Amino acid sequence: MNDAATVIRTRGLTKTYVTGAAEVRALRDVDFDVRQGEMVSIMGASGSGKSTLMNILGCLDRPTSGTYELDGIRVDGMDRNARADIRNQRIGFVFQGFNLLPRTSALEQVELPLLYDRTGRQENSRDMAARALERVGLGDRMDHEPSELSGGQQQRVALARALVTEPAIVLADEPTGNLDTRTSIEVLAVFQELNAQGITILVITHEHEIARYAKRIVRFRDGRLMQDEPVLDRRDAVHDLAEWHDPDEDEAASAFAPIPVSEGGAA
Ligand SMILES: Nc1ncnc2c1ncn2[C@@H]1O[C@H](COP(=O)(O)OP(=O)(O)OP(=O)(O)O)[C@@H](O)[C@H]1O
Ligand SMILES: [Mg+2]
Repeated sequence: MNDAATVIRTRGLTKTYVTGAAEVRALRDVDFDVRQGEMVSIMGASGSGKSTLMNILGCLDRPTSGTYELDGIRVDGMDRNARADIRNQRIGFVFQGFNLLPRTSALEQVELPLLYDRTGRQENSRDMAARALERVGLGDRMDHEPSELSGGQQQRVALARALVTEPAIVLADEPTGNLDTRTSIEVLAVFQELNAQGITILVITHEHEIARYAKRIVRFRDGRLMQDEPVLDRRDAVHDLAEWHDPDEDEAASAFAPIPVSEGGAA
């Protein structure tokens, strides 16, 4: 794996927010490398700088100092338009709150990024959107609006919207934060499959159980990267879904279970 290309490389990355008289050092001297094909979980307490990092890696924001190379290209000094172009070409975003438009079909939501694309891919945008929805297992829900979809399905629409531009990297900021455990694992199954197809994935999560579906976990504290470790006992979402038992159902079942009759008994 060591010869895989480095897609993300930061050195001395710093972000300081200034609001009024107060300064918040959201990121401090972060050196972070991600190779193509990795799946990385980003953990850390609230306020530790995770979203700040994600926004810089996704070219939504710029660092205060330090360097960031995306696919070998320096992006830290780029202006807003240049960053928007590179983002559209290389990066797909998924957020905790899905960020879908109300009263808009899944197909139209997913088509939207292509309509803003300046590389001329608009022509077969409908087909591309349909294919992205099929990829996340929603081929039979294309005409559904968000209010007609479950939480997990809404997040999969958001994922299809992130995928439709064929990004090399998917950045997800707490994508399972609004989902129950089983639905979270369903979404992670899609992430793992995309990762197996070669897409590099970064996922912010607060939950250690969720983090273990990645290949590597990094932890932030007070804006610093404190820990960076491979996941030795990586979980497999498809496997876990097949083995899934709803804890509530188990409880209900045991409450009504017949009292076991012991075998043998009096002769
Ligand atoms: N636009 C901003 N202006 C000023 N301060 C900000 C801004 N965005 C974030 N911060 C501050 O920077 C620090 C890091 O915030 P960030 O959103 O990166 O944390 P986080 O790790 O994503 O937290 P959470 O788990 O709660 O989402 C926090 O102290 C926050 O208050
Ligand atoms: Mg955050």
